[in-house]
Amino acid sequence: MGKHNLSTKIIPTNIDYQAFLHDRVNKYLEEYVASNNKIEEAIVYALTAPGKRVRPTLLYLVSDALSLDLIKIDSIAAAVEIIHTYSLVHDDLPCMDDDEIRRGQPSLHIKYDEAAAVLAGDAMQSMAIEMLINNNFVDGQRNIELVKNFLSTIGSKGMILGQALDIEYESREADEKEILMMCELKTGLLIEYCFHAPLMIANEKNEHWKRLAKIVGISFQLIDDLLDLKQSSEILGKKTQKDKLKNKKNYPQMFGEEKTLSLLKKYKSESNLILAEMNLEEHILCDYINNLFKRKV
Ligand code: IPE
Ligand code: IPE
Ligand code: MG
Ligand code: MG
Ligand code: MG
Repeated sequence: MGKHNLSTKIIPTNIDYQAFLHDRVNKYLEEYVASNNKIEEAIVYALTAPGKRVRPTLLYLVSDALSLDLIKIDSIAAAVEIIHTYSLVHDDLPCMDDDEIRRGQPSLHIKYDEAAAVLAGDAMQSMAIEMLINNNFVDGQRNIELVKNFLSTIGSKGMILGQALDIEYESREADEKEILMMCELKTGLLIEYCFHAPLMIANEKNEHWKRLAKIVGISFQLIDDLLDLKQSSEILGKKTQKDKLKNKKNYPQMFGEEKTLSLLKKYKSESNLILAEMNLEEHILCDYINNLFKRKV
């Protein structure tokens, strides 16, 4: 078990680390994503809306815990946020979840049109991959591994399979194992990548990290599903109470709120045990993960 030297913290202490990291990824996005035509304008529209930036924040915090220089992570953080945002743009399309509000503003296909939303999403994928390939702060061979891993995370055996199953289960039965697998595929894997990428760069192969990544990823979707049931649209910046209407087979819809909360409680304690085992209970990553379990937005 590697004990990490917390004295070599890269993120300054005594600051609002979340604001600091949001700022960091937003600046990077601003610098690299120009709007020279209609599709690029649409991309900027989606990217500048107030997302929580959970995935970039996790990438930076895991990197900090592994004492990696954050400069190695900037383009990865931006690429992951771009892919996540494209997945939301496509997720909102009428042929998918048919949602008209996203991040507190009209969804991209409402603000522009459906063709623009499809094309902006397509372009965001190549943009993200290009960003990763151009990351000069990670050595060539390792960077190829990072890109390969990223592509399998977001492709037809990863996030896209999860999205396809989410739609398929609207009209067929699925058991508990299948529902949890769908959560992991559509949402968990990209979050897991936020752990795996820094681990690969740091050459750290600790299984504890991998388990932590997996349970944080699945829990993120379980909480999203609970918030769809319980939270207001104004606070979330997207329509709520929609999953039932669409006959989504998500975990709380199928097994109830209580069972979902008890699974989340189990995952939260396991996360804290792992973080303690890795000597990270004082690290801001621990604070952030605990806040993710408590989130109301
Ligand atoms: C929403 O993700 C969709 C899921 C994958 C559960 P977020 O809750 O991270 O959305 P933003 O980025 O803050 O808008
Ligand atoms: C979205 O899940 C997952 C991906 C976009 C990959 P949801 O459909 O539950 O996300 P929201 O609730 O629309 O944000
Ligand atoms: Mg969806
Ligand atoms: Mg949706
Ligand atoms: Mg949802």
